[in-house]
This record gives sequence, C-alpha cells and structure tokens, in this order.
Amino acid sequence: MVAPLKIGVAGLGTVGASLVTLLREQRALIAARCGRPIEVVAVTARSRAKKRGVDLKNIKWMSDPVALAKASGIDVFVELIGGGGGVAKAAIEAALSSDKSVVTANKALLAKHGVALAALAEKNRVALNYEAAVGGAIPIVKTLREGMAGNSFERIYGILNGTCNYILTRMEQEGLSFAECLKQAQALGYAEADPTFDVEGYDTAQKLAILASIAFGTKVSESAVYVEGISSIAPADLIAADELGYRIKLLGVAVKTPQGIEQRVHPTMVRKDAAIAQVMGVTNAVTIDAVGINPMTLVGPGAGGMATASAVASDIGDIARGVCGAPFGQPVAKLATVRKAPMQRHEGGYYIRLQARDKPGTAATIARRLAQQQISLESIVQRHPKGQPAAKSAKSDGSVPVILITYATSEDAVRKALAAVGRDRVISGRPQVIRIEKN
Ligand code: HSE
Repeated sequence: MVAPLKIGVAGLGTVGASLVTLLREQRALIAARCGRPIEVVAVTARSRAKKRGVDLKNIKWMSDPVALAKASGIDVFVELIGGGGGVAKAAIEAALSSDKSVVTANKALLAKHGVALAALAEKNRVALNYEAAVGGAIPIVKTLREGMAGNSFERIYGILNGTCNYILTRMEQEGLSFAECLKQAQALGYAEADPTFDVEGYDTAQKLAILASIAFGTKVSESAVYVEGISSIAPADLIAADELGYRIKLLGVAVKTPQGIEQRVHPTMVRKDAAIAQVMGVTNAVTIDAVGINPMTLVGPGAGGMATASAVASDIGDIARGVCGAPFGQPVAKLATVRKAPMQRHEGGYYIRLQARDKPGTAATIARRLAQQQISLESIVQRHPKGQPAAKSAKSDGSVPVILITYATSEDAVRKALAAVGRDRVISGRPQVIRIEKN
C-alpha cells in the first residue's frame, strides 16, 4: 500500500468543512483514481469551538496557519483562509519555501501575488494549484492549461460572479430594481461581505486576470483589467435588451487584439441565442474561443461548499499523482507583462439609452452627431414602455427614452458623439452605454 498523501487544511469555513467531509467520504475512490490515499492530518481555523458539522476526530488541531504550513507531518498545504495578503500569503510562502505543494481557492491572493508565488513554487519544484479560485466546480483552469495545451486562444469570456448573474436574472425576470435584487442576494448569502466587491466587478476582474494569464501567457495582473460593475443597470435596460433580442450579463472578457491582450469586465449585451445568455441565477460559465475550433462553453456552480471543495480535491489529486507543472501553464520567466487596455480604443457595437427631448429635430440631431463620428446605426427607437401611450411615457421634463444600437465602432467615437449630443441640449441626464459582445 502506498503511503497516504498528508494534507494540512487552513480555514474551516463552508469550503474547508466540505473538503474534510468529501476527502473522507470519497477516500477509497480517490485512492483508486490517484494511486494513493489522501488524508487530512491537521487543520487550523480561527475558532476551535465553532460547530461545523464535520468530524475532526483524529485530526490534529493547530492554532497557527504558518506553523501548519511548515509542519513536517504534512505533504500538502491547503489554504482556504482567503484575503489578498496577510496570513494566507505568509502561510503559502512558508509552505512553498518548505518544499510543500500548495492548493488554494484564493483568487484575490493569486490576482495580486500570483506571479511571485508561482516563481517560488517553480524554484522549489512544488505545485501551486488553484482550480477552485475561478468558476467553483467548473474545471476551467485545467481545461485551458492542460486540456487545451495545444490550442491558441482568441478570446475567453465568462460569467464569473454568481451574485451579479443572480441580480441581473432577477431584474430581468421580475422587473425589480438593482437595489432590491442586491438585498435578496445578500439575504440568501450569495454576496461577499462587502457587496461592492461583487457588484462593481472586482471579483470577476481577479478571476479574469487568472484565466487570461493561462490562456495568453500574461503575468497575472488585476490592475491590467478594465472594470465596470452592474450598479448602473436599470430595469429599463433589461426591458430594452429583451425587446431587441439581447440579455445583459456581467462578463469578464480577455481577447487578443492587434494592440495586445485586452482584459475587461463590464455589463455586456449578448444575443439571446448565445450559449452564455442561457446561464441564469448564480451559475457561472466560461466560453472559450480557440483557433480552428467552434467556441465551447463550460457551465456550472461557481461557488458553494461542495462545488469549491470538488475543485480543491481535484488539485490535491493531481499532486497525489505526481503532476507538477508551471502554475500558469508557462514558466514565470516566459510570461509577458500586460497593461490595462485603453478602452477608448475598444471596438464593438454599442447599446445607448438616452433620455431625449420629445421635440422635432431631436432624432436628427442625435443621428448627425453619430454620423460625424462615422458611427453607423443598426437601429434607433423611441421607446415607450409596453402598453403605455407616448404621452404617458414622457417624463415630466418632456423627455422620452431613445434606444440606439450601433454597428461596430470605437469607444472613443461613441464618447465624443455623446458629449456633442449633451452639448446640443437635446437629452437630459447621463446616457447609458453598454458594450455589445459578438457571440
Ligand atoms: N462571490 C462570488 C460570487 C463567489 O458571487 O460568485 C466566490 O467567488
């Protein structure tokens, strides 16, 4: 019988507790598949007294994560503490420096320090695995890194934050406001402690930076991602999107452009028939556009105890099998530095919602300003909410919603045209602009 792979787990929240249970319940199956048993031998967490619904009998309790990371009795350190630095970082560094492989679910830490940690892992010839950091149970890291090791990627885009997708789904299906849906997401425990991290797109940006690194050989860099969240999306946008054949999703998009790799997170109009548009509620999905292959979409639970533990267990299984490659697919020395994409250069179609003065000549003024920037319109609609006559849908200031869909153009042109329309005083309030992603 081969000796068990001995695991130390730091952090016993929902994921840590699920992992201990999963590894115990699937012990025989995992041993058969990976060639040796996997055994949790030590754990650490903030409170020893807390009830977790998991049996910790015969598992050593340690109070210090860094001491656990270095402990001579463990082969693999599993970091489930979270946070972009602090004790999680110190413990991972201690483990890698003591020649122990590490498995982590910590996207924030990888987005900020992934390159340095990967370099340390490479130097010590140990594994740094992080399947659970992106897309929960979806094996997207392994799909890009191992499953598609021979493919060139054109574009990767995904729904990487369940909270945002839940909010947009509820807004679309029930006509509720953003604030109401956020409250519901919080009540259901989906949103992170600080909801701005989810709804303003930062969680998605960290996950995207990790996927972009694997797909495009770039150094993971959260600051290279352009980020816009969903808090400005109004029910009126979801209604208009629906009528025009689109859905609005918060997408993380990493794409090869002539200027380099563009990484961006923003609310996005996607055609209703696209695979990613079918993904509702807290579910995550990633679409992979690789050269010579029709796009493929992986869909699954992006968060939750067992979903995340499943990805962690798979990473531990790789270590049991003796797999130890470069964490981001290529050695750190080969990864390219990336800069934030200047969004004024972004090219694509745009949805624009304006609150326009309901007077003769308004549409002509708007169309002229767009034409001056060489923007071609696919459609322009003065939109009255369903079932309401024109007079009733006008605001008290006499304005009505006008929805424009442009053909592909540059963001710079759109911004310049809208600034000119603003100066013409034919609209009130700020225009709503949502990028359209071709699927
Ligand atoms: N807060 C994340 C989400 C889950 O809403 O998808 C963990 O990454």
